[in-house]
Amino acid sequence: MNTAPHLSARSTSLEQTSEIARQWLEAIAASPVSASAIIIGLDGNLGSGKTTFTQAVARELGVAEQVTSPTYVIQKSYAILNPRFSARFSRLIHIDAYRLEEASELEVIGFRKLAADPRNLILIEWPERVAALLPADMRTVHFAFVDETTRSIEY
Ligand SMILES: Nc1ncnc2c1ncn2[C@@H]1O[C@H](COP(=O)(O)OP(=O)(O)O)[C@@H](O)[C@H]1O
Ligand SMILES: [Mg+2]
Repeated sequence: MNTAPHLSARSTSLEQTSEIARQWLEAIAASPVSASAIIIGLDGNLGSGKTTFTQAVARELGVAEQVTSPTYVIQKSYAILNPRFSARFSRLIHIDAYRLEEASELEVIGFRKLAADPRNLILIEWPERVAALLPADMRTVHFAFVDETTRSIEY
């Protein structure tokens, strides 16, 4: 449910952003198990830190590969290897909807199947571009550029 933010933080470094991502992931991992994937919208302008946050989440999850922006490929999928999280989630799905013009384009990458699998944790940048295919009660992390080294992060 999208109610008042649980956390409203200012990060002044990549380390702080990683720490916020780590805390956020703890809350997600402690949330009740659902029948389908956990889908999280990452909302904010270009350069506000959505991909950087996802990279920190991936590190915490024990993703072995380097996580790069999926802007051109739309979707990337990573195995979760950290045993602390792998009992619940098997894959991190990172989607960037920036280049999509309508929600139906998300179906081409097999989104419905990904979204149906409770072992997927799905982080989606530019969720507003494909809102029609996303759950109405989707949780969102909000990012904003404050200055060169500062970002606001709310969830
Ligand atoms: N405190 C901070 N937290 C996150 N990113 C930061 C911070 N300060 C500077 N940055 C920089 O901001 C940029 C964010 O880019 P990126 O994560 O790709 O944004 P987005 O995916 O929202 O377009 C990166 O170059 C990162 O190094
Ligand atoms: Mg990005």
